[in-house]
Amino acid sequence: MPTKHFLQLKDFSRADFEYLFERTRWIKDRFKRYEIYQPLRDRTLAMVFEKASTRTRVSFEAGINQLGGIAINLNRGDTQLSRGEPIEDVARVISRMVDGVMIRTFEQVIIERFAANSRVPVINGLTNEYHPCQILADVYTYIEHRGSMEGKTVAWIGDSNNVCSTWLQAASIFGFNVHVSTPPGYEVDPNRAGVGELNHMRSFPDPVDACRGADLVTTDVWTSMGFETESAERRRNFEHWRVDRAMMAAAKPDAVFMHCLPVHRGEEVEAEVIDGPQSVVGDEAENRLHVQKALLEYLVCGPISQ
Ligand code: CP
Ligand code: NVA
Repeated sequence: MPTKHFLQLKDFSRADFEYLFERTRWIKDRFKRYEIYQPLRDRTLAMVFEKASTRTRVSFEAGINQLGGIAINLNRGDTQLSRGEPIEDVARVISRMVDGVMIRTFEQVIIERFAANSRVPVINGLTNEYHPCQILADVYTYIEHRGSMEGKTVAWIGDSNNVCSTWLQAASIFGFNVHVSTPPGYEVDPNRAGVGELNHMRSFPDPVDACRGADLVTTDVWTSMGFETESAERRRNFEHWRVDRAMMAAAKPDAVFMHCLPVHRGEEVEAEVIDGPQSVVGDEAENRLHVQKALLEYLVCGPISQ
């Protein structure tokens, strides 16, 4: 059987996600009752970080520990990658020694080259193009709060970045629509987003229009990791794409607000919104732990009959 990887959201089917969400509910419930569940005893997860992280690092390390395994954390500067060792060699070697690898890196092609040479499952912990673990947690969080996403509307305000592209992939898998509003020059590129057709997306020049009738309003930093040289220019160009109370008022009264974090209050979102009653960012961050435990269990052990 070929090794299953999670490199972008569309690597998995709707049935895979339904299974993962069922396992997530079960695993989270056990965790909340302080019950030990250790299907990954003696298993090892290598984590390769070429960019900074708080949530991804802690959720994967805590998650594998709680499942009975251990994590090895490899920051770029600590490994021979920083001295030019080919990613293919790193993949061949690491994957002989561990049971799974999580990578946060720059271009998607890096993780694809790693996976092509890995004997064990590889998980995308964020690339310039995608952030599938984040949207796994976000969709799960929406379902926990409001039920199925089928037919719902997500308003994406701001940069057409890795998180935006992953929402677009999620839209066709889960059957919802995404209203996107970006500043001119920062529009979605369907190829880069990894979506063939844009059946599930509508673009709006005005962010307030994108939010009208939305069930979920979300945004992200104006400048993603790796693009820091563009920060000053982006701050100028994104000024009107700050999620504010007027945008939330245009959305449905029971709309939720999400942000993958870290946030810059007063830049991409007003403090009153992210710290307000419609914000579910705390649950969103916590659920990274639970969905990724289900993901690790699935990739390492295969489906468990419940
Ligand atoms: N949302 C997210 O991935 O956070 P970190 O960059 O802290 O891992
Ligand atoms: N788009 C952001 C997400 C951080 C979790 C970045 O890539 O830096």
